Amino acid sequence: MTTKKRTCVLAYSGGLDTSVAVAWLRETHGFEVVTCTGDLGSVPDLEAVREKALKSGAKKAIVQDARDTFVRFFVWPGLQAGALYEGRYPLATALGRPLLAKLLVDAARDEGAEFVAHGCTGKGNDQVRFDLAVGALAPDLKVIAPMRGGMNMTREEEIDYAKARGIPVPVTKKSPYSVDENLWGRSVEAGILEDPWAAPPRDVFQWTVDPDEAPAKAREIVIAFNEGVPIALDGEELDGVELIVKLNALAGKHGVGRIDQIENRLVGIKSREIYEAPAAVVLHLAHRALEDMVLSKETLRFKERVSAEYADLVYNGLWFSAHHQDLAAYVHSTQRFVSGEIRVKLDHGTATVVGRRSEHSLYSLSLATYGKGDAFDHKAAEGFIGVFGLPLRNQARTQALWAGDAPLALPKAPTSRSGRRVASDPKTSQGASSATPKRPKKARR
Ligand code: ARG
Repeated sequence: MTTKKRTCVLAYSGGLDTSVAVAWLRETHGFEVVTCTGDLGSVPDLEAVREKALKSGAKKAIVQDARDTFVRFFVWPGLQAGALYEGRYPLATALGRPLLAKLLVDAARDEGAEFVAHGCTGKGNDQVRFDLAVGALAPDLKVIAPMRGGMNMTREEEIDYAKARGIPVPVTKKSPYSVDENLWGRSVEAGILEDPWAAPPRDVFQWTVDPDEAPAKAREIVIAFNEGVPIALDGEELDGVELIVKLNALAGKHGVGRIDQIENRLVGIKSREIYEAPAAVVLHLAHRALEDMVLSKETLRFKERVSAEYADLVYNGLWFSAHHQDLAAYVHSTQRFVSGEIRVKLDHGTATVVGRRSEHSLYSLSLATYGKGDAFDHKAAEGFIGVFGLPLRNQARTQALWAGDAPLALPKAPTSRSGRRVASDPKTSQGASSATPKRPKKARR
């Protein structure tokens, strides 16, 4: 029998829930608790978080600035993949979780812990992301989620519990929303937002101005990419973190980056989330515009399917999967020519691409031009269309696809705007002429 206490490493945000969880894990499970905090861009004071963890009863508090890792290993690959969940959400929260889980696993190894814990509830996607990531990286570790079961405290009970143990309690009024934030975006839900008919009130937004109140004058910016990674803003080379911070401020000032989305959670619930993601919205737009210039039609078409699949797997917590590695290899290969510059205009809540250039551009002026120097062989188009249209002509000769009663078949006589026949001649307005092959009766469903 060993008397050594078992250790649990807790993913710690510094909020009330996880502070209470430190004490709860000690008292209920008898653990030594080590907290683990990674700053992905929303922890302004890591030292304050460390102190709070220790005051809450942690044996040790690990804090680290993980912003650069977040951008290089999660945000940029997500951008290169064009990963937007259900076509819009740039996945800020979803991209952050696997990194926080990795930091948790590393800390558990360093501390010789058999347990890790997180403060996610049982209704959301984040519990899935933590649990799956820990399982993929360290299947021997046991995951505890006090908020999913066990702790079961209301906010008032948490405050009393904390006060009784000398745990610092928030002095500011609780926000009516549930918010998650990192460099790549802010996710806001709950409160009045649960009514999908209710427009989001002003106090939801912190990174973007109301488009009505944006500066009267639009702002044009230039973003430079190298192999799908943004490297400069308006000619100034910046590292990833700096570039995102700057662009969040710039685009947010013009009201760009608000997303109001009903999304399908992995656990089967439709939920309404408001996102603020100025840099992510602008960079996805610009990145795609550059791809339009340098990728072939086939690659663009196929990559769209990969983007949707990639977004799903990130959203569903499968970052540390073989499927991700395989898709990422494809995405990486597609990015080798995605270098160049994109001009974007920011204006009262909209971001519009107004210019693009790249040394790898497949856009050819001599092929596209209607002016001087046209290199396109107009005569050759005839032969091309002859072959391209061959199956249509062949089918028309044998199947009368567009005869009288076929769906979408047009009536024979010309119609006015209101849909009424302009002139009606009972002999010609009915049925197909006898020269056309008869449409078989059975073909109708
Ligand atoms: N719906 C987003 C996701 O699943 C964000 C989740 C966290 N949102 C929040 N408001 N706390 O990735």
